[in-house]
Amino acid sequence: MFAYRHAFHAGNHADVIKHAVLLDCLSRLQSKPGALTLIDTHGGAGAYSTDSGLTRNKAEYKTGLGRLWGMRLDKMPEMIANYIRVLRGLHGESTTLSTMAGSPLLMAQQMRPQDHLTAFEMHPTDAPLLKQNLERFGRRAQLRASDGFAGLRALLPPVSRRGLVLMDPSYEIRTDYGKALASLREATSRFSTGCYVLWVPIVARLEVERLVRQALALPVEERLHLRFQVRRAGADGLGLMGSHLIVLNPPYGLQRACEEVLPWLVTQLGQDESAGCEIRLQEKKGGPKPPSLNNHQRVSRVDASRLSRGSSRVPSRG
Ligand SMILES: C[S@@+](CC[C@H](N)C(=O)[O-])C[C@H]1O[C@@H](n2cnc3c(N)ncnc32)[C@H](O)[C@@H]1O
Repeated sequence: MFAYRHAFHAGNHADVIKHAVLLDCLSRLQSKPGALTLIDTHGGAGAYSTDSGLTRNKAEYKTGLGRLWGMRLDKMPEMIANYIRVLRGLHGESTTLSTMAGSPLLMAQQMRPQDHLTAFEMHPTDAPLLKQNLERFGRRAQLRASDGFAGLRALLPPVSRRGLVLMDPSYEIRTDYGKALASLREATSRFSTGCYVLWVPIVARLEVERLVRQALALPVEERLHLRFQVRRAGADGLGLMGSHLIVLNPPYGLQRACEEVLPWLVTQLGQDESAGCEIRLQEKKGGPKPPSLNNHQRVSRVDASRLSRGSSRVPSRG
């Protein structure tokens, strides 16, 4: 426990898809004036310097956010442009990527006066860092240095009756998979209309498919399943291959936006011919709809042709 530090992975492909979708959900929910309760059950440190020893160690951002940072915003889908805009707003003057905001800071930055954020973080080093990073938002953004799986239920249903919850565990220990499901099950039973975003790694573990399947069976009105893969497993069968994002009660328009964004991201962040994406919407009444997009093959070919030209951006690890 506590070996995981998000700084090692900040800005990687998983952060890109997760943060872009999170911000998109937030802005769609903010199209209505009512107050929003924002909850981040696993907050991390809130901000990460590309210059710190931990981040430099693996430099995962170079094959994620680093590939998008210098691009023109009008050359990318609006969801990604919005994400880069928010990040740049939190960034200093320098055009070189030097600081990367994490999920609680991104949400806090986009809060309106009527919104409120609670972020959980248990790590003895990262919790004080997150507290410091949220200080400027005053009482509207609070840190709880306690267990986010267990603490979520006490915040639900929110007085505002409108909420967005990000659950982004480190899955450092296998029991996190079961805890994530139990916590979400309890949360949705108390507040079934909230919007929940659950991140699950694509790694070679039995627990992954089980959690995805069970989260998609939770009794809410709609569930959106996004699958975004950038590479195959390493030679040892290990390593992060990509992300599942399960969005319970996705805001209107999110699915359509993802249909544009995910294939584009595959072409930008894909690392080998196994890169691809899938988008699937399930509604409560009736069975699962067929995938709205499964361009694994098509996008893989696009990516493979780029790699065969000898792109210097092909990394050895994700
Ligand atoms: C994947 S990181 C979070 C990254 C962050 N959501 C972001 O996108 O910027 C997971 C974090 O959860 C923390 N953590 C682990 N178990 C926890 C628990 N039960 N409750 C709250 N935080 C926990 C870890 O210390 C780690 O910082």
